[in-house]
Amino acid sequence: MRNALNKLADSVQGDEEERARFEAQLDSFFSLFRRYLVEKSSGNTLDWEKIKSPNPDEVVAYETIAQQPENVTNLSKLAVLKLNGGLGTSMGCVGPKSVIEVRDGNTFLDLSVRQIEHLNRQYDSDVPLLLMNSFNTDKDTEHLIKKYSANRIRIRSFNQSKFPRVYKDSMLPVPTDYEDKLDAWYPPGHGDLFEALHASGELDALIAQGREILFVSNGDNLGATVDLKILDHMLQTGSEYIMELTDKTRADVKGGTLINYDGQVRLLEVAQVPKEHIDEFKNIRKFKNFNTNNLWINLKAIKRLIESSSLEVEIIPNKKTIVRGGHEVNVLQLETACGAAIRHFNGAHGVVVPRSRFLPVKTCSDLLLVKSDLFYLQHGALKLDPERFGPNPLIKLGSHFKKVSDFSSRISHIPKIVELDHLTITGNVFLGKDVTLRGTVIIVCSEGQKIDIPNGSVLENVVITGNLQI
Ligand code: UTP
Repeated sequence: MRNALNKLADSVQGDEEERARFEAQLDSFFSLFRRYLVEKSSGNTLDWEKIKSPNPDEVVAYETIAQQPENVTNLSKLAVLKLNGGLGTSMGCVGPKSVIEVRDGNTFLDLSVRQIEHLNRQYDSDVPLLLMNSFNTDKDTEHLIKKYSANRIRIRSFNQSKFPRVYKDSMLPVPTDYEDKLDAWYPPGHGDLFEALHASGELDALIAQGREILFVSNGDNLGATVDLKILDHMLQTGSEYIMELTDKTRADVKGGTLINYDGQVRLLEVAQVPKEHIDEFKNIRKFKNFNTNNLWINLKAIKRLIESSSLEVEIIPNKKTIVRGGHEVNVLQLETACGAAIRHFNGAHGVVVPRSRFLPVKTCSDLLLVKSDLFYLQHGALKLDPERFGPNPLIKLGSHFKKVSDFSSRISHIPKIVELDHLTITGNVFLGKDVTLRGTVIIVCSEGQKIDIPNGSVLENVVITGNLQI
C-alpha cells in the first residue's frame, strides 16, 4: 500500500502547493487505512455490557437551558458551517445536493444564506458561513455562491480530502494516477471536517478573528438554525462539544445515540451494535434520543486535538462497486463521522432539542413535507403551521417518486396536508391541483395501470387501489 501511495504522490503534475496538499492527504489516508487493518484484525468491538445510559449531566433537556436570557454579544464568537460534500444522487439529481430547490424557488444553500443574513441583520452581527465542499461539489458550489457576493454575508468555502478507494480483494488503491477517473476517489465522510478545516487554514483564520464556537450541521437539515440559548449554554458551561439530540420515534430507529462507555460520553451507531443487540438498540425506551448532527464545537479544542493527532474516531467501512474493464469490481472506502469525535472533547454533552431542529430532506417524501402548507418560510427558516398538532405526518412515496424530476411531474401542485397523519402512494399515480389530504390516505396503483387524482379532490381516510378515476 505505502509504495502504491508513493507512486500516486509522484504522479502530481501541479505546483508544489498542490503536491504538498495531496501528499498530506495520502498520509492521512494511510493512517486511517492502517488503523482499519489493526482494528479489523484485533476484532476491536464494543463490549455491550459496558454500555450505560448517559449520566444526567451528559444529556440535558433544551427546556432547562431555554430559561437563560439571549446574549446577542456571543454572536461575535460564532461561525456557522454547513456540510456540503454530498451529491443529490439519491434523489436523482446531478450536482451538489444543496442546489436542489426545496421551497418557494429556494435551494438548501439559498435558505442557509438567508438564515444567516437575517441573523446578521437582526442583531447587527457578522457571523460567517463556511461550506465544507468535496471534490464532487466544489466547482458547482463556487459558481453558485457568486450570486451572494452582494449579500450581507461572508461565505468561505474549503474542500475536504480526496481519498483513494481500495480494491476489496487486493487492498490496493484504485487510482494509479492523480488525474485518475473520479470514481477512483471518495470524500471520506463528514468526520474529515476537523482535518480539512485545519489543513485549509480556515481554522486558524477563525481563531484569529476571535471566533470560538463552530455550529456545524448537515446541509440538508432545514431545522438547523442558530440558537442563541445553546450558544450561551456552551459558553457558560465551557463545554468543548455539544451534540443536539432529539427524541426517537418508531420511524427513526437507525440514528446514532449517546452512551456512557467506560465513564466517557460516546456516540453509538447502529453499525457498531452486535446483531444480537440490534432490537435493544432500536428500542425507543432504552435509547431515547438520537444524533441530529447539529454540533457545536470549540475551535481551539479542534486545533489542540488535530495538532496532537489525538482525534481518532470510529471507522465506517463502506462497500461500493465500480466498473473497470467492463466488469463490476468491489471497492472499499473508509469513512468517519464528525459525531463520533465527541469522546475526545472536554465537557462534551448532548442537549435534547425539539424535533423542529431536525428537518432533514433525504427523499422526495421529505421534500413533499417541507414544500407543503404544514410549514411557512420565515427569513430562510421553515416554521410549523400553528394549526398543526402532533408529530409530522408519515409520508411514504414509492419508487415512481424517487427522482425529484418524477416527483415534480407526478405532484406538480403540492397537496394541502395540515390535517394528514399518514400518506402512502405507490405506482403510477398523478395528483391534480388543489388536492387536500386528511387522516390516513393510501393510494396503490397496480402495475400497468394509472391513477389520476382529479383537481380539487378531498381525500380523507381512504384507500384507493386499481385503476380508479374519482
Ligand atoms: P449524508 O446525507 O451522506 O449522511 O450526509 P446521512 O446518512 O444522512 O447521515 P449522517 O452521515 O449519519 O449524518 C450528511 C451531510 O454531510 C455531508 C452531506 O453533504 C450532508 O450535508 N457530507 C457527507 C459531507 O460534507 N462530506 C462527506 O464526505 C459526506
